[in-house]
Amino acid sequence: MNSSVRKKVMILGGPNLSRLGQREPEIYGKTSWEELSGLCSEWANSLDLNVEFLQDDGEGALVGLIHQADDQFDGLILNAAAYTHTSVALRDAVSAVSIPVVEIHLSNPSSREEFRQKNLLSGVVEAGVFGFGTQSYRLALEGMAELLGA
Ligand code: DQA
Repeated sequence: MNSSVRKKVMILGGPNLSRLGQREPEIYGKTSWEELSGLCSEWANSLDLNVEFLQDDGEGALVGLIHQADDQFDGLILNAAAYTHTSVALRDAVSAVSIPVVEIHLSNPSSREEFRQKNLLSGVVEAGVFGFGTQSYRLALEGMAELLGA
C-alpha cells in the first residue's frame, strides 16, 4: 500500500513510561519503551498505519501533544499513566479533539490501589484497552485500525 495514504496515529505516553523495562517489571513487564516503540512500528506496518511514538513526563507538554495529534493525526492512542487519575487538563484536552482517542494501560488500574480507581479519561475516550501488558498496544492498534477503517 502507498504509505502516503496511510492513516497516521500518534501513540502518546505519560510520566514514567520512559522507564519501562526497569520500572516495577513485575507490574509493567520487561520490555523497554524503546523496544515497545519498535514493536508498535511493526504492528502498525502490518495494519497499514503510520505511527509516531512519543512520551513526555509533563502535564502541559502532554496537553500540547494532544492538540498536535488533533491537528496532524487521524487517531490518538493515549497512555496518560498517573495523569489518568488526576488530570482535568488532560481530560479537557481529550474532550476537545475531533479524532478518535483510545485509552491504553499496560496494567489493569481498576484492580490496583484505590487511588487508581478514579479515571478522568475513560468518560471522554472512544475506547480503551488495559491489562494485557505490552500486548495492550497491539490490541489498541488493531482497534484503532478498525475505528479509522484503515
Ligand atoms: C499505567 C497505569 C497507571 O495507573 C500508572 O500510573 C502508570 C502506568 C499502565 O500503563 O498500566 O504509570 O498507565
